[in-house]
Amino acid sequence: MVKTINLSTRLTAVASYINKGAHFADIGSDHAYLPCYVCLKDKTAKAIAGEVNEGPYNSARETVTSYQLTDVIDVRLGNGLEVIRPGDELNHVVIAGMGGSLIKSILEDGKDKLKHVKRIIAQPNVDARNVRKWLVENHYFLTNEEIVEENGHIYEIIVADYSERTSEKEKISGKELLFGPILLKKKTKEFYKKWQHEFEKLQRIVLQMKHAKVQDIEKIKQFEQELVWMEEVLQDGKSNQ
Ligand SMILES: C[S@@+](CC[C@H](N)C(=O)[O-])C[C@H]1O[C@@H](n2cnc3c(N)ncnc32)[C@H](O)[C@@H]1O
Repeated sequence: MVKTINLSTRLTAVASYINKGAHFADIGSDHAYLPCYVCLKDKTAKAIAGEVNEGPYNSARETVTSYQLTDVIDVRLGNGLEVIRPGDELNHVVIAGMGGSLIKSILEDGKDKLKHVKRIIAQPNVDARNVRKWLVENHYFLTNEEIVEENGHIYEIIVADYSERTSEKEKISGKELLFGPILLKKKTKEFYKKWQHEFEKLQRIVLQMKHAKVQDIEKIKQFEQELVWMEEVLQDGKSNQ
């Protein structure tokens, strides 16, 4: 019987932020590889694998059964956090491999299910800003961020822990929301690679918007501000080389 799972670099990085003994939900679990990996490594962990679509839900059930983990992983069919039931008393929620807007709406729609959740680990494929904004507005303070590259894609991982505090110091700027306050400090090569690519893409978009018959002046202004931030960040990277 196989006792380990070869997880992707991306999901291994996500898993590294799940504390020992965690009781967690993996929302949008697909094959349930992440909860199986964690529960095989940590015999004290328990998980709920939530899936909205029947195909991935059935795949998740098959994986959990094949690793003989049905005692510790409960696979549930449902939309977002609605799979969490009173009494589950989860302390972590993981939402990985979706767009930032979807992650944000899953969190917002299921806010009342987060009562015992101390840590949220999000891995938005795009639009991480939306997720950061929701987290800080809802008392989940960013405690770690990571950026990993796999098969030519760059992924951001955001770790946020619940706290009652709301001091002035926790305020986060528009620039930090875009780049990630911790990623901005870590300044890895993947970070610069991502933002060089985003800079070039946004430059092309702004150029097209300026040539449009009807111009969205507000949007152009916002994008131009973002281009300035990106230039600052990229310049910073060059001067550190
Ligand atoms: C691209 S897969 C990512 C799977 C895995 N989390 C990962 O990171 O590799 C996204 C999964 O989320 C599921 N999903 C999308 N929206 C969802 C929702 N509102 N609630 C639960 N699952 C959802 C999809 O069915 C799909 O299986």
